[in-house]
Amino acid sequence: MDMDALKRQAAARALEHVRDGMKLGLGTGSTAKHFVDLLGEKVRAGMKVTGVPTSEATRAQAEQCGIPLTTLDEIDRLDLTVDGADEVDPALDLIKGGGGALLREKIVASASDRMIVIADESKWVDALGRFPLPVEVVPFGLGATRRAMEQAFAQASVSGQMEVRKGRDGHVFVTDGGHWIVDVRLGQIADPPRLARLLNVIPGVVEHGLFVGLASTVILAGAQGIRTIERR
Ligand code: A5P
Repeated sequence: MDMDALKRQAAARALEHVRDGMKLGLGTGSTAKHFVDLLGEKVRAGMKVTGVPTSEATRAQAEQCGIPLTTLDEIDRLDLTVDGADEVDPALDLIKGGGGALLREKIVASASDRMIVIADESKWVDALGRFPLPVEVVPFGLGATRRAMEQAFAQASVSGQMEVRKGRDGHVFVTDGGHWIVDVRLGQIADPPRLARLLNVIPGVVEHGLFVGLASTVILAGAQGIRTIERR
């Protein structure tokens, strides 16, 4: 089955949760792109919503679609964020950041009453970690930060190769916040909340792609249909 069609199906199902007047976090990536696109159709048909984009790419798309935008300086909370994910586990914990937008994505999701994750079923895993964990870092003192990350991994009983992310042009990938990303091939992460806490306290780590306890609902589209999983 066409993966892109599955992503659009998941996005369309998430749109059913959007009500007039809502303040929405707008995710980043190829699945979230479908949601923004479909939301744009609703807005052009008269629906009143306001969005906070999680990246400059999503901002540009939302503007093109005519979705009114605001910031988390102008409003306190969002009703709902809809975003994609690179991996989802049965606890509804996530790995995000494959598209490099993890920092804004986490800020926006954390400021939302609800987060709906939309994905095709290939993102569902028994345990997080097959997808390399993106860690957003400050370029200054990167050697020290990497050593501190290694210690955190050892304490969480995982290890893996670290690689500074490069863009398609071969240059170091720079995030919307002006930082770099280190991708870490960890394999199975036995205890994502523990690893998240260990990474949170490293000074050179701006943010990491473990989204623990943030997703309230996951909408997975597969060949057999759409599955909605709610946090218990
Ligand atoms: C962006 O930084 C990511 O967190 C994306 O949400 C994630 O990579 C999913 O992207 P796709 O929908 O393109 O798979």
